[in-house]
Amino acid sequence: MHTPPGPIASVPNRAATRVIAHRGASGTFAEHTLAAYQLAIEQGADGLECDVRLTADGHLVCVHDRTVDRTSNGRGVVSTLELAQLAELDFGGWKLGGSEEADWTSPEHTSVLTLERLLELHADAGRRVELAIETKHPTRYAGLVEKRLLELLRRFGLVPEGAGQAGRGGAGRGEADEDSSPVRIMSFSQMSLRRVRQMAPQLPTVFLMERVLPWLRDGSLPHGARIAGPGIDLVRANPGYVAALHRAGHRVHVWTVDEPEDVELCLRLGVEAIITNHPQRVLDQLGR
Ligand code: G3P
Ligand code: CA
Repeated sequence: MHTPPGPIASVPNRAATRVIAHRGASGTFAEHTLAAYQLAIEQGADGLECDVRLTADGHLVCVHDRTVDRTSNGRGVVSTLELAQLAELDFGGWKLGGSEEADWTSPEHTSVLTLERLLELHADAGRRVELAIETKHPTRYAGLVEKRLLELLRRFGLVPEGAGQAGRGGAGRGEADEDSSPVRIMSFSQMSLRRVRQMAPQLPTVFLMERVLPWLRDGSLPHGARIAGPGIDLVRANPGYVAALHRAGHRVHVWTVDEPEDVELCLRLGVEAIITNHPQRVLDQLGR
């Protein structure tokens, strides 16, 4: 399917496009480590992206894969391990090349990062920093992930008060809540976003996609999603789809955009957020 190209932004708005650090400044430091997020904040990223999973004893940790095998010196499925077991593993050592600036002897930089610790860092940032939190499914804990996530966000005062817009058919491009809340929840799982919408309708949600589902070709999104999150491969193959999403009233956040020509493409298409492993490089390219 190829969506006919729509009008594109003729003058890219480099100042308005937000730069979101994917798993922290993960092109430089090990992904989902405190050091990677500290660096992204120092570099001036507008926001931080992270993936969350529940441990066997009910803690939310920032780990992308189902297992810890790739990103730590341990083995095992995150959801079957307790936080104390995860805390014994080294999540920084596998990517020491090029990471000399971080103090990798500090346990804080190598331990598994809990979402709670990331929220503390976020609270101490001293400026507005967006948080794009992705729930990973399927998982044995199903809806408990969203329940725990919203409890934690509420504890940090990150869920705006108010009735939200649960009764409406979907907010438009100018929706107020994305601007009032620094947090948005992202997922490839429509069910996860529906749960978030039910429990916290004030929070913006992002429907992630690697391909366009046939019934969404017109730019509409599943119920519960307010922002589109297409991958850069999809955008490269079908740039007209971004215009379709905009015409349908949705904002567009593209991942994972690391190549300069892809950044330019996103700017030409007027996407609202670029999610990248290299926030500093993208900020430089945007002249910021
Ligand atoms: O930001 C969205 C993006 O992170 C989705 O893909 O596999 O990197 O979590 P993944
Ligand atoms: Ca992610």
